[in-house]
Amino acid sequence: MSSEAKPISGQTVAEHNSRESCWIIVHGHVYDVTDFLDDHPGGSKIILKYAGKDATAEYDPIHPPDAIKTNLPPEKHLGPVETGTALQVEVKITDQEKARQERMNARPPLSEILNLHDFEAIAKTVMTDKAWAYYSSAADDEITLRENHAAYHRIWFRPRVMRNVTHLDWSTTILGQKSSMPVYITATALGKLGHPDGELNLTRAAAKHGVIQMIPTLASCSFDELVDAAEPGQTQFLQLYVNNDRNITKRIVQHAEERGIKGLFITVDAPQLGRREKDMRMKFEDADPDQVSKNDKSGEVDRSQGAARAISSFIDPGLCWDDLPWFKSITKMPLILKGVQCWEDALEAYDQGLAGVVLSNHGGRQLEFSRSGIEVLVEVVEKLGEKRGLSFPNEKFQLFVDGGVRRATDVLKAVALGATAVGIGRPFLYAYSSYGLDGMNHALQILRDEFEMNMRLLGARNLKEVVRDMVDASSIHQHVVAVPDDKLYYGNYDTLQSVRLRDIKSNL
Ligand SMILES: Cc1cc2nc3c(=O)[nH]c(=O)nc-3n(C[C@H](O)[C@H](O)[C@H](O)COP(=O)(O)O)c2cc1C
Repeated sequence: MSSEAKPISGQTVAEHNSRESCWIIVHGHVYDVTDFLDDHPGGSKIILKYAGKDATAEYDPIHPPDAIKTNLPPEKHLGPVETGTALQVEVKITDQEKARQERMNARPPLSEILNLHDFEAIAKTVMTDKAWAYYSSAADDEITLRENHAAYHRIWFRPRVMRNVTHLDWSTTILGQKSSMPVYITATALGKLGHPDGELNLTRAAAKHGVIQMIPTLASCSFDELVDAAEPGQTQFLQLYVNNDRNITKRIVQHAEERGIKGLFITVDAPQLGRREKDMRMKFEDADPDQVSKNDKSGEVDRSQGAARAISSFIDPGLCWDDLPWFKSITKMPLILKGVQCWEDALEAYDQGLAGVVLSNHGGRQLEFSRSGIEVLVEVVEKLGEKRGLSFPNEKFQLFVDGGVRRATDVLKAVALGATAVGIGRPFLYAYSSYGLDGMNHALQILRDEFEMNMRLLGARNLKEVVRDMVDASSIHQHVVAVPDDKLYYGNYDTLQSVRLRDIKSNL
């Protein structure tokens, strides 16, 4: 439908409020989603709640702005709604929400936020329950989530002294691109759940601090919006979930290359999304209990798994090594596999001529009992040295690590062990969810300050001087279940909840 179509009154839209004829309004435009109801990855129930009404507020945090346009055929784009006539879903400000807003107003000033853990402590009290559940959750019993952080406790420093550490430089290059520190902002989906500006907070802070942002396939902001927001010369990477439909993937990749993206990180640890039970429980708690029990009786209960599963059903579980030549044929961007978890796969990636791998278990959100990236790094460096004579850090084949990084000391351990850089996910989400762009800028400033102090204390004037001999990683492979001895980290950790009784009233 052309954009010159005659405006439709909100009253007309309101008449299409059923499964038989379902229209919704998003960003001032009316869409007929009747035929799409059963195909919606998040289920039909949530759309039907907005049938005949303005769904923008619900739509925004979990969809890129153009998702509805690209997923619906043009004849289902019915045209603009008459200004001011759209029926709104009544938003009740609950007591719980009022209390949350009060906590938001009681946030301490940023000057009192001393480290990345502090952001998490504030975020968990001021974020909506839904956003906190999605961001903080991880797979199954969350053992890998905690191990990601705990693994860094098994590495200790062997600093050097008497080295004239007056002048320091911790800048580096990542895939040939300048970065002010050996850290990049890794891809995390659904940025607007935590803050209305979503991933734009990351883009802007990355520009200010000279770090690189990896844009997620499932960003809440559109890809173009994030690229448009970059400063001239600012480097961005793209994280790619490979679609069942390779034409869509090809379009995304080639568009990214045209827009100047400097590295393509193909996620390979998510052929199916892990069970993130905090997120799943939130979905059930969110649902109307009457509806759930009705559905339970009819056997039709929606068992889709929280926000995560809802948005990711397009990911191709058929992705395999044989696909790599095809990727090379469609782009010249450096290709990196994100989510490699053993030396054999790292070696295969090297032999296939890729630019690197991210040793990652997806922040503990995928296979429970995956080892931490930092542990895998030790074996990859050793085996690729042994099998192919490589030494690390290596310009030609770069190793990245993510998961559990909270301090510059964690980063320096990874660099000493051969990583080019590390990715940080949740801490940045928590920084901007609780304090917006200022929070994100403060988070990067904290890391800079930590680099300065720790490089000096380590006796390293630049990252080349952060070498293998500066760490003792002899205990890295000792797998002990994480003991809660790191008070800041474990103080923030939200214990998993067991299933609970329903509100008594709804059982009557
Ligand atoms: C809320 C959230 C969303 C994520 N979304 C994606 C994603 O869409 N694609 C992806 O490859 N990795 C995703 N990840 C994994 C991160 O890129 C990264 O591996 C992980 O967050 C690192 O652990 P950290 O959060 O402890 O820093 C996500 C992680 C989180 C916490």
